[in-house]
Formats: sequence, C-alpha cells, structure tokens
Amino acid sequence: MIELNVNIDHVATIRNARGGKEPDPVTAALKAELAGANGIVCHLREDRRHINDRDLRLIKETISVKLDLEMAANEEIIKIALETKPTMVTIVPEKRQELTTEGGLNVVADIAKYKDLVSIFHDKDIFVSFFIEPEREQIEATLTTNADMVEFHTGVYANCKTKKELKDEIKRLSTAIDFAQKNALKIAAGHGLNYQNTYAIAQLPNINELSIGHSIISRAIFVGIEQAVKDMLKIIREAELISNIQNLRKEVKH
Ligand code: PXP
Repeated sequence: MIELNVNIDHVATIRNARGGKEPDPVTAALKAELAGANGIVCHLREDRRHINDRDLRLIKETISVKLDLEMAANEEIIKIALETKPTMVTIVPEKRQELTTEGGLNVVADIAKYKDLVSIFHDKDIFVSFFIEPEREQIEATLTTNADMVEFHTGVYANCKTKKELKDEIKRLSTAIDFAQKNALKIAAGHGLNYQNTYAIAQLPNINELSIGHSIISRAIFVGIEQAVKDMLKIIREAELISNIQNLRKEVKH
C-alpha cells in the first residue's frame, strides 16, 4: 500500500502572510492525520518562510503518525533535527531565492559529506532519505552513503506538456524506481503532484510513499483539509487497485 505523506508547509505560508496565529499548521497536521494521512511532512527552511521552530516542536508532540522533516544539510537545521528527533529526515537542496525546492540533491557532488550526515542521523535512530532526480548515478551515490530511502523528484513529470514528454519522463522514473528497488532502497516520490497527475505515478510498481503538499492545501481552502486528504487517498487507492488487477491479468495470461 502506498503511503500518503501530507506536507503542511503552505498552511504556515498563509499564516505568515499576516504574521499572526492562523491558520495553524499544527491543527492542519492533526486533521490530515485524522483524515487518513500516513505521515506529515514539513520543511524547516533556513529563512523560516513557512514552518518555524515552534511549529516543528508542536507537530512532533501532537501527531501519532510518522514525521518527515525536510531539510537542507545545514549545521543549524541538523542540530534542531537531532534535538527534535523526527521519524525521518529528507535531505533537500535549498536556495534562498527559489520559490520551492527546484531540483534534486546532488549527492554525487559530495558523497563523503552525505555519508557522514547519514551516520549522524542513524546514531539517533533517524531514518534518512535523499530527494534526488531519477538518475542512476544519484541512486548509486545514495547507496554509498548508506541512506535508507530515496525520494524521486517528480517536478519534471509535473511540468510535462506533451504525451511524448510524459511517456519519456514516466520511463525515466520507472527505470530509476526499478534500480532503487533492486538495491533495497525504500522509494518515495513527490513535488508537483496534484489531483490530475498523481494517478499515473501511483500506478508505478514499487513506490512506497508519496509526499504531497501544495495541491492538497490548495484544495483544502475550498473543501477542508480532511476532505482534501481523503480525495487524494481515493485517487492513490484506485490507481493501486487498477494496477494490481492489470498485473494479475498479465500473470494469468502467462
Ligand atoms: N517532496 C519534497 C522533497 C519537497 O521539497 C516538496 C516541496 O516542499 C514536496 C515533496 C511537495 O511538493 P508539492 O508541494 O509540490 O506537493
């Protein structure tokens, strides 16, 4: 079963627009959990543009499902992560000027640094994932660091304009998923997934988790966060079911 991890950062973005207390990302996290989310994701950025230290602390204390802290390999944030002890961390690249995380982490460029980082987190029993492009060399580098998981960046997929682009990107993702799975990495995917494009991704075999934020929080403005989470879960479950039936049919034919 594919797990849905809901990123609540943009609840904090709305709160921060006025600098007050509402809407509270902690309430959003709890409501997402009650609606069936398997995990809560938040990104503590160096510039604190969405969630802040208080949010992270209270979310950790409040939720019962897994907490995935997205973070850059930055000294201050590493210290906070080690103190907070989320279930897992997802290491992402972070640029101050970007609107959102723009590309995957370049693990190849600094394998030794990332290997040390994995070991620091493993010492505290914190599971480690790297947010990477679906490319073989990045997966190989991730394996060298002893990380537990990869999250494949679906931003290129989400921005595809033509059927040919879509086909090529799904092929690139499937090849990467296959290679990561054969090498015993847990596999997540995320970025830019919405109510239109998640179905095809959830049909790919061997994805363990999806990390989705902006589209769910956007829908929540109109239907409420519980309904928005349930609507996304329905898409994922349907895609999995159809994919399982198709695979069974193939097996029966052979
Ligand atoms: N996964 C990672 C690593 C991300 O950085 C983000 C964006 O914060 C997401 C998933 C969720 O992307 P979106 O908000 O587009 O669903």
